[in-house]
Amino acid sequence: MVVLGIDIGGSGMKGALVNSVTGEMLTERFRIPTPESRKPQEMAEVVKKIVEHFNHKGPVGVGFPTIIRRGVCKSKGNLHKSWVNVNVRELFSEATGLPVTVINDADAAGYATMNYGIGKGKEGFVVMITIGTGLGSGAFFNGELIPNFELGQIPYKKYKKIETWAAASAKENEGLSYKEWGKRFNVFLNYVDLLISPDFIILGGGTSKEFDAFKEYIKIDTPVLPAELRNQAGIVGAAAAALHEAPRD
Ligand code: BGC
Repeated sequence: MVVLGIDIGGSGMKGALVNSVTGEMLTERFRIPTPESRKPQEMAEVVKKIVEHFNHKGPVGVGFPTIIRRGVCKSKGNLHKSWVNVNVRELFSEATGLPVTVINDADAAGYATMNYGIGKGKEGFVVMITIGTGLGSGAFFNGELIPNFELGQIPYKKYKKIETWAAASAKENEGLSYKEWGKRFNVFLNYVDLLISPDFIILGGGTSKEFDAFKEYIKIDTPVLPAELRNQAGIVGAAAAALHEAPRD
């Protein structure tokens, strides 16, 4: 089945057609920058444009960068506060005229990794961390998604949430080297390890492509692996989750 997967982030909204059975991307990725307002109507317009670009008429799966409970946005994440309590599924269905499923973006990326990528067959507690504008987390126990883990929200020193200090956006905004940023990211991973003791941590999101540049600064005992689907995982996972009806979508 061909599904349009859309990965929505704080800086870009990306889509591609995906074979939801094999997890294969069938087209190039099409990206539109996230509107500066990061508000619902403007972002719904972009979703519509992505659908039109592919002239797609079938199901759409969306990975969205906030807590999502049964299609409804329950936190602001790095978007505009007017998103809170918006039914994202309904908003995007109305904008596109197509059936839409919405789950958290890191849950979507994890879903792809656990079904088609390096996480496949991994038993126990696996956590996907996506490194982008924020730090997303997708938790899986014996392959089953436990939705809406929000590990990037751990308070840290003067920061309300550690992602403000340790996500890729901090690296970019503060012009940090991989060494400087990698040490911060390692502090974050230490908290993850201490709080939830996963068996494996898998890294996704744009920055995971640069794993070789920062892996030497990761000093935790838990194995940390880059997802080989890298930045595509968000799109593929969103598409796959649309059909498999992820729990509490
Ligand atoms: C949000 C998460 C999201 C992550 C990555 C965080 O700010 O709270 O829900 O998964 O950013 O986009």
